[in-house]
Amino acid sequence: MSDDRANGHEDLAERRYEPPQGFADNAIVGDPSVYERAKEDPDGFWEECARDLHWFKEWDQVLNWDPPEVQWFVGGKTNVAYNCLDKHIEEGQGDKTALIWEADEPDQGKTYTYNELAAEVRKFANVLKDLGVEKGDRVCLYLPMIPEVAIAMLACARIGAPHSVVFSAFSAGALRDRLNDAEAKVLVTADQSPRGGKANPLKQNADKALEDSPSVQSVVVVKRGGGEAPMTEGRDQWWDDLVGGASDECPAEEVDAEDMLFVLYSSGSTGKPKGIVHTTGGYLTHVKATTKMVFDLKDDDIFWCTADVGWVTGHSYLVYGPLANGATTVMFEGTPAYPENDRWFDVIEKHAVTILYTAPTAIRSFMKTGTGPIEKHDLSSLRVLGSVGEPINPRAWVWYYENIGGSRCPIVDTWWQTETGGIMITPLPALTTAKPGSATHPFPGIFPGLYDDEGNEVEGAGQGNLVIKRPWPGMLRTLYKDPERFRETYFETYGPEVYFVGDGAKRDEDGYYTITGRVDDVMNVSGHRVSSAEVESALVSHNAVAEAAVVGKPDEDKGQAIWAYVILEGDRETSDELMKELRDHVRSEIGPTSRPDQVVAVDDLPKTRSGKIMRRILKKIAEGDQDVGDTTTLADPSVVEDLQKQASAQT
Ligand code: WT7
Repeated sequence: MSDDRANGHEDLAERRYEPPQGFADNAIVGDPSVYERAKEDPDGFWEECARDLHWFKEWDQVLNWDPPEVQWFVGGKTNVAYNCLDKHIEEGQGDKTALIWEADEPDQGKTYTYNELAAEVRKFANVLKDLGVEKGDRVCLYLPMIPEVAIAMLACARIGAPHSVVFSAFSAGALRDRLNDAEAKVLVTADQSPRGGKANPLKQNADKALEDSPSVQSVVVVKRGGGEAPMTEGRDQWWDDLVGGASDECPAEEVDAEDMLFVLYSSGSTGKPKGIVHTTGGYLTHVKATTKMVFDLKDDDIFWCTADVGWVTGHSYLVYGPLANGATTVMFEGTPAYPENDRWFDVIEKHAVTILYTAPTAIRSFMKTGTGPIEKHDLSSLRVLGSVGEPINPRAWVWYYENIGGSRCPIVDTWWQTETGGIMITPLPALTTAKPGSATHPFPGIFPGLYDDEGNEVEGAGQGNLVIKRPWPGMLRTLYKDPERFRETYFETYGPEVYFVGDGAKRDEDGYYTITGRVDDVMNVSGHRVSSAEVESALVSHNAVAEAAVVGKPDEDKGQAIWAYVILEGDRETSDELMKELRDHVRSEIGPTSRPDQVVAVDDLPKTRSGKIMRRILKKIAEGDQDVGDTTTLADPSVVEDLQKQASAQT
């Protein structure tokens, strides 16, 4: 990835891309004064955005900031499902397509108008009520990319029951931990999850998790495959059977702006995932405004966000952001390579997608294949491209721009996190001159900064730890049932007023931000957050492993590859079979993204005198770098040479 030079001397990051000629003329945001206005009066800016929603009762106060606690639109009453459905129907948009579902098999998809989607949501909301779900009860959704996942999310929102979506590729163990932490009352899942022509037995996984999830009283099962799932009498029921008898009348609950909308678990620097809590009014204000302004979303756009709903990107920019704007959103169940490697481009052409929002890892895999699959399709419907999840290297940026965007579509490289709820640093397509690899400027109303390790703010051009200096509406409110960890993780490093992001960043003389990557022990694998500690604890749960240390190694395709060093139990010998078994073990403990690319058996790990593993050194060894830097703080500096020998012998 270091090869970002086009022809040996031109640095692609030095290129400048102006917004397309005329783009500003009828853009949603064509006037740069929005930045100044939001800087002078951020509360006023966000209040204006909030007025774009329907409120049953208006707020008494825009922002109540008692660091680190924040509340937005205090006293306001609204409902997310009402805003995503009823509002548009009332405005005469009931027959407009809300959701285009593209199934794994190219001919099996279907579409829903706003009227149709609303009817399904109301019915399922009634099903949940009949199952005893009340306002505030948590509902867990362990579902593939099928319309029912959006329907269930909106049904939860309609009755004020927070959802917790668990990525369908996660293991039974990961699901169990999330069910228990959230104390979910109902689990919604499916018999199968078909992807790339293969069916994964989702319900069987769910059953394993349910053996140990005492809070779950009922399980609703969508029939996505043949319906051959094991069903437990008295606990499990088919979605169709329940929905079939449900009424499609269900008024939206008037919920408080600060009522919880969802919890979504994300990896942190310890082994235990963090339950990130988002509330109602601020979150929806933030995602509605950013979807509209960042992607220049208009009435006739077809918006395709390729992320899975199991991640925050799917929550904010597949479901809530587009639907809150009354747009048409595309949900794709399958993979880029099935049935052929041109599937994505086929989807773009078939549905005349105008806005594509995806991750650098996908772009890099298309680069590898070459432009063949693209050339088979007409991609001229595209007009805005987005990137998210990890830094986009300039070469991938330029490739995306030229080959997918036909050198005519602005790229918005959007930086944000599960915690931020919505986009924070990003170009605005009509206004920003892009620099490949840079997420450019804060969105209006967002105040980032850079701090050094001593706690001093870096002024002007420079580099440091990225922070956010003022609350924003989509900000996480707490970690579920763990306010102490919330404070420690985000508001201890630089005090209760300054949100500690966990990423490093550079700012150039023009004020452009470029994100350099995580500063904590969190890896970014294909745009997904993977915690070193979580992989380590999965490894030591195997009986052959005494100790483990896990680091990310720069990788052309995935951004980072997972490298694990293990010390085996005394009686175990290393072998290729055992190393593979360990990799598979992590996969079945956590999920496919967390499977190490390399496991190396070693005699010892580089530790400080106080016993802390120096991952910095392990990273250098993974990279094959002979110079590992300062080793004087190691308890035994001689381990480094042994490690280097052992690593090179096994890779
Ligand atoms: C981490 C957040 C935001 C939704 C998807 C991931 C990295 C995200 C960018 C970007 C550079 C990025 C950061 C961040 N990241 N977008 N445009 N440029 N880095 O959500 O799992 O919460 O991960 O992803 O490291 O902290 P997440």
